[in-house]
Amino acid sequence: MLTPIVTTTEEVRAEVADARRLGMTIALVPTMGALHEGHAALIRAAGRPSSFVVVSIFVNPTQFGPNEDYAKYPRDLEADQRVGAAAGANLIFAPAVEEMYPSGFVTFVEVTSLQDMLCGTSRPGHFRGVCTVVLKLLNIVAPDAAYFGAKDFQQFRIIQQLVRDLNVPVEVRIEPTVREADGLALSSRNRYLSSEQRAVAPAIFRALQALEARAAVGEKDVPRLEALLQAELAAIPGAKVDYARIVAADTLEAVNRLDRPTVAVVAVFFGTTRLIDNLTIP
Ligand code: PAJ
Repeated sequence: MLTPIVTTTEEVRAEVADARRLGMTIALVPTMGALHEGHAALIRAAGRPSSFVVVSIFVNPTQFGPNEDYAKYPRDLEADQRVGAAAGANLIFAPAVEEMYPSGFVTFVEVTSLQDMLCGTSRPGHFRGVCTVVLKLLNIVAPDAAYFGAKDFQQFRIIQQLVRDLNVPVEVRIEPTVREADGLALSSRNRYLSSEQRAVAPAIFRALQALEARAAVGEKDVPRLEALLQAELAAIPGAKVDYARIVAADTLEAVNRLDRPTVAVVAVFFGTTRLIDNLTIP
């Protein structure tokens, strides 16, 4: 079974209008394809309220930096159609670049402050591209709900803020991070890891769990906890820590004590492959 694909705004709107006429609600799962179990979990969650589930697959050029992996980002629409079908997707929207960014395109959306920290520091312009494409997808599909993964926590917070600030009539949902059995968060970029890097990469999640354990026995001092996290990550062979922080879950700003909802967020390089992960501290 393969989920059907449409490529134009006109086609996806016609399909969505048909589903609405049948009384269905509409759910959107924005992706860049190379669908894995993390995406499948979002698709299943989106279908649970018996919605018509649209999965967008678009490797969005505006969110990649000049030295990033846009050209080599994995693309396999037929494999994605199979994953989509197995997870219950009703329709794939896979526009060409010219459909999303026709010549003369000049409008961009930014969520200030939230876009400039953490991943935004190491990937300038990244979230501007994400916000622009996600707002376009929301306007094209006009879903009742849109689903995002906790793995990209900053992205989720930024989209939530965008929708709130610009009065976009959609419910933004977050779903838990799906992991390999050894704890490594699923990511389409895991395939870039060498076997040595893949073998040690689960230590990223173990470092987050060690932090959680320290917090659970009453450690509330953030600088001490951050030092522990940094040290654990720096000890992973071949890893270079981009950032390892404990931040407020709402503003993503620095905190000094665990006296409000916080999230530990990390980004680690293995060579040129950059992996991110996070853990909400209860
Ligand atoms: P992509 O990396 O394909 O991810 C699509 C969605 O899947 C995102 O919401 C992401 O958080 C979620 N996801 C990825 N890995 C996951 C995992 N292991 N567990 C749970 N969810 C996971 O994120 C993007 O694409 C793009 O930036 C996009 C939002 C589509 C805009 O271009």
